[in-house]
Amino acid sequence: MKVAVIGAGYVGLVTGTGLASCGHDVSLVDIDARKVAMINQAKAPFYEAGLEPLLQKSAGKNLGATVETNKAVTTADVVFICVQTYCQDDGAIDLTHIKQAVTDVGKTLKATRSHPLVVIKSTVIPGTTEKVLIPLLEENSGKKSGDDFGVAVNPEFLREGQAVEDFFNPDRIVIGELDNDSGDILCQLYQDFHTPVLRTDLKTAEIIKYASNVFLATKISFINEIGNICKKLGIDTYKVAQGMSLDSRISPHFLSAGVGFGGSCLPKDTKALISAAQELGYQPHLLQSVIRVNEEQPLRLVEVVAKRVGELSRRKIAVLGLAFKPGTDDMRDSPAIKIVNELLRLGALVTAYDPVAMDNARGIFGEQIEYAATAEDAVLDAELILIVTEWSEFNNPALYRGKKVFYGRRLISPNQVNSGDCEGVCW
Ligand SMILES: NC(=O)c1ccc[n+]([C@@H]2O[C@H](COP(=O)([O-])OP(=O)(O)OC[C@H]3O[C@@H](n4cnc5c(N)ncnc54)[C@H](O)[C@@H]3O)[C@@H](O)[C@H]2O)c1
Repeated sequence: MKVAVIGAGYVGLVTGTGLASCGHDVSLVDIDARKVAMINQAKAPFYEAGLEPLLQKSAGKNLGATVETNKAVTTADVVFICVQTYCQDDGAIDLTHIKQAVTDVGKTLKATRSHPLVVIKSTVIPGTTEKVLIPLLEENSGKKSGDDFGVAVNPEFLREGQAVEDFFNPDRIVIGELDNDSGDILCQLYQDFHTPVLRTDLKTAEIIKYASNVFLATKISFINEIGNICKKLGIDTYKVAQGMSLDSRISPHFLSAGVGFGGSCLPKDTKALISAAQELGYQPHLLQSVIRVNEEQPLRLVEVVAKRVGELSRRKIAVLGLAFKPGTDDMRDSPAIKIVNELLRLGALVTAYDPVAMDNARGIFGEQIEYAATAEDAVLDAELILIVTEWSEFNNPALYRGKKVFYGRRLISPNQVNSGDCEGVCW
């Protein structure tokens, strides 16, 4: 099939590259000319494990990128909308980018004879496709959804850091369909994926995405809350999580206590659902607490450090790990931002290192901190070490000899560190 993908970010580029490797003709569209140029040179504009080698197989053959929506959409059978849907300061979803993207698609449809399927892959609040996006498509195309073009909602569940693997091996495919024909086209596109497919109406598919993400966020804040209690009791939370996981009703996933969740999805999706619920006249107390626990959690690590060593002013501190999780350079809402800013506020001298997120870190912290080229360099002069992202290269006790180490993420068992001078945020 001919596929257009609007928005070549983490979701769009992985989706487009994955579909190209399945043999489809893919045209990616992005307003960022730098990203477009890089993709056309078979270079991934951000780090995602396995993405660039996959891109190199299709770029210039059955995959290309452009800044012009009409070039990609005119001949497309399926148009995926994958642009960002951040939240505003009050937590409500910001639809600016997706409205613009569907407006551009609608304008192109006006001048075409084709009957493509428009698929909303971006995460949007339930009802958005029906109430906002379809009307925009119809208004700008002068055409009727269902008759002249199909519409589906196909939420994305990939995890950054494992996005390529997740593309090829999804746990499920959720298809919200305007009508049967729309759903059938998407089923055909995904016919080689051997995974359960759930077909629903549009808004059910939209909320399945939120319910899934918000459940995971809740699980993390839950175990962090248990961890904060365990810390006060002198109990190792990881033993507790292990004991919980042996209960077949509780899965072991997302029970790793630490400095909280970050990234472009869990925080903003939880906030957006809270905001949407409030607009409907419902106070989602549980979800509000999930966010509250998560906002305080990074600062707990700094509290643990200060309690152990006293004043942090002028202390040399190495921060290992800046990305919100391993396998990605994404620092959006990373707990590392709060931790570094708090250390700076307390007057500490921070040297940071991350295997792939250094460019993004420079954009956030500028000249306020030192940047090390390796983990070894970062810890060389440091008196204290904070581990904030669980990259496997930090799983190296030799790095920490003679230093005080504070774990924001569990890496190695505390008694594996030779100095014995270490402490975790929740253990
Ligand atoms: N990142 C994830 O792990 C993930 C996982 C599942 C779902 N999602 C959802 O998928 C959506 C995309 O997320 P992302 O992380 O890929 O975002 P992103 O910010 O990485 O990428 C979005 C891209 O869209 C481009 N863009 C914006 N407006 C455009 C327009 N009018 N025309 C063409 N391009 C445009 C931007 O330049 C950017 O490159 C969001 O709704 C997000 O919530 C993200």
